[in-house]
Amino acid sequence: MAVTQFEAADARRCFPCWDEPAFKAKFKITLEVPAELVALSNMPVVKETVCGPLKTVYYEESPLMSTYLVAIVVGLFDYIESSTLEGTKVRVYTQVGKTSQGKFALDVGVKSLDLFKDYFATPYPLPKLDMIAIPDFAAGAMENYGLVTYRESALLYDEQLSSASNKQQVAITVAHELAHQWFGNLVTMEWWTHLWLNEGFASWVSYLAVESIFPEWNNWTQFLDETTSGLRLDALAESHPIEVDVNHASEIDAIFDSISYDKGASVIRMLQSYLGAERFQKALASYIKKYAYSNAKTEDLWAVLEEETGEPVKDLMTTWTKQQGYPVIYAKLNGQDLELEQAQFLSDGSSGPGMWIVPMTACCGSYDLNKKFLLKGKTDTMHIKDFAASQSGQNFWIKLNIDQNGFYRVKYDDELAAGLENAIKAKKLSLMDMIGIVEDSYALSVACKQTLTSLLRLLNAYRHESDYTVLSHVTSVCLSVNKISTDANPDLSSDIKQLLIKLLLLAAKRVGWDPKDGESHLDVMLRSLLLIALVKLGHDETIKEGIRRFHIFLEDRKTPLLPPDNRKAAYLAVMRTVSTSNRTGYDVLLKIYKETSEAQEKSRILGSLSSCPDKDIVVQALNLMLTDEVRNQDAFYVLGGISLEGREAAWAWLKDNWDHVVKTWPSSSLISDFVNSTVSPFTSEEKAAEVSEFFATRVKPSFERALKQSLERVRISARWIDSIKSEPSLAQTVQQLLLQEF
Ligand code: BES
Ligand code: ZN
Repeated sequence: MAVTQFEAADARRCFPCWDEPAFKAKFKITLEVPAELVALSNMPVVKETVCGPLKTVYYEESPLMSTYLVAIVVGLFDYIESSTLEGTKVRVYTQVGKTSQGKFALDVGVKSLDLFKDYFATPYPLPKLDMIAIPDFAAGAMENYGLVTYRESALLYDEQLSSASNKQQVAITVAHELAHQWFGNLVTMEWWTHLWLNEGFASWVSYLAVESIFPEWNNWTQFLDETTSGLRLDALAESHPIEVDVNHASEIDAIFDSISYDKGASVIRMLQSYLGAERFQKALASYIKKYAYSNAKTEDLWAVLEEETGEPVKDLMTTWTKQQGYPVIYAKLNGQDLELEQAQFLSDGSSGPGMWIVPMTACCGSYDLNKKFLLKGKTDTMHIKDFAASQSGQNFWIKLNIDQNGFYRVKYDDELAAGLENAIKAKKLSLMDMIGIVEDSYALSVACKQTLTSLLRLLNAYRHESDYTVLSHVTSVCLSVNKISTDANPDLSSDIKQLLIKLLLLAAKRVGWDPKDGESHLDVMLRSLLLIALVKLGHDETIKEGIRRFHIFLEDRKTPLLPPDNRKAAYLAVMRTVSTSNRTGYDVLLKIYKETSEAQEKSRILGSLSSCPDKDIVVQALNLMLTDEVRNQDAFYVLGGISLEGREAAWAWLKDNWDHVVKTWPSSSLISDFVNSTVSPFTSEEKAAEVSEFFATRVKPSFERALKQSLERVRISARWIDSIKSEPSLAQTVQQLLLQEF
């Protein structure tokens, strides 16, 4: 098989060209390939001539397009086909014999094309669209014009073998790449500085499409996962602005990060919410029309939006795209006034110099009572006399940043925070607001602006929650609290673990292990989420049950007792009990890994093998990455799974294998994964110093920022630990909450 991947700057390695996004050209491609193979490119075939063992394939001339979107795939494939309402032929190509796994993506693809045509009020410009699964593919997917390439796990879906979360990933990836056919391919960023116009928009629009195709997935609430990653990364001093100077091709790859994607998508959501969905859509459609077959800068988009809406879009948005970071809004009640003050939020507890024009929203006691205004200076005061008149006592609450539409955090004073805690318990808040409150509170705790004690009290208010979208954030906070408390307070950490388990157990009992007839997609996701979290927290019962079901699964791979959604939890449970002297679980999982040809199943296993508490087993899992058993593209699954107990061993392993690792995984995102996964789990200044020293002579531009960010995370954890150690009432609160009846 032969496949090209040109983004960002590799078309020049295939043919001579002006290889920058603004030099658009028409491409007329001809290929000479072995006669028995399928040969695809951006455009349909116009003519084929066979000459002995070779054939020459001529393709139609393309419209004006950038070089990074040119693509060629040659190999043995089968395909399935469908077409859009307008008659565009859409195909999904897979390895021979796997086309049934392409049906879901084909359906999402066709629906997305129809939807984007309406949303952007512009037809899909090419005569065909092919989507193809590539077994070895560094990224998740690539939006080549008319020939979109995917790693198998991001395109193929199998009712029997895939999980609900695999299904979502396929839908989001397909919608994202097809959104690029307009945002990126038809209208292209002028230069890589504006990469976010491609990636942020495609990410945002993919949620729009998936929300419309699968309304029951509550996709916009799940979008807060993106906002959360953006907020977490952008709270580092070593973050960067959305618009970043790019002076050399080697600098491009490193900006395909959570800032361009997640912060980018989130500030678009913020702007859309400020301008209103209809006005926003109309303006986007004009922008696409105006810049079709051409290029645009961030300012060009703002100009169109200003023209269409009459709002000061450029001034507002420039504070978000040219400046790194984001604000935390301190909210304080002073009589009838709500006093607001902004300061740049940084996880290291310092306040940066940044200032933003902040689209503020507030509601008081009910979502019907709401206000909207721009916070332009450092401080402002909101008079809440009329606003809050009907609210009193227990029912009084004010929520800022309604539905987390804004890319910022809020720190409430004690009175306001108590009101919100009551509102959570009384189920008065939207899912998005419940997510926002726990995320902000967690981030403020990491930055030592709030105690871990108060975070635990807040988490306790979520114990009756049963919604997947909320609990996915609650569990992520719980797991992080669990990790930090192991280092911060070893004597108390087992009690904290018990408390976190107790918090998740009510919901876990409700969903159980066995799927229920007709249950929702989100409950299926919830089951998997909670089982995994309970295993990671060391909940004995869940681990034992996971192992029991795993053994049944070994006898019968089709057993309904371990559907794909629950397998990861069972695999992790098995790995919790593996050790060098009792390694059967590892060997058996490895055997399943080798036997299966399903990428999603392989990734589940890879992510489990390194989760073992036994250091030697962790090293074996890492060594597996160096063999032919693991494709280079899949190393990050292993890295993402490394147990806390294994972090020293993993770091020692990375040092020992460094020369080989940089040679084998040279791409920015892959090598950055190695650095980030092995360095970030540490929590002491000494370790940060040791890591810095090791990399002093080894650092390269491809992972320099990732290294700095990882070191910053280590120092942030060290500072958090110091602060937790001096919390006077932590132990008492933990005991109190543990004793509390539910
Ligand atoms: N354009 C990117 C692929 C890419 C990434 C090319 C980095 C070169 C360097 C593509 O549109 C993309 O964003 N893919 C994502 C998947 C998506 C669902 C967020 C990916 O590969 O993870
Ligand atoms: Zn993309």
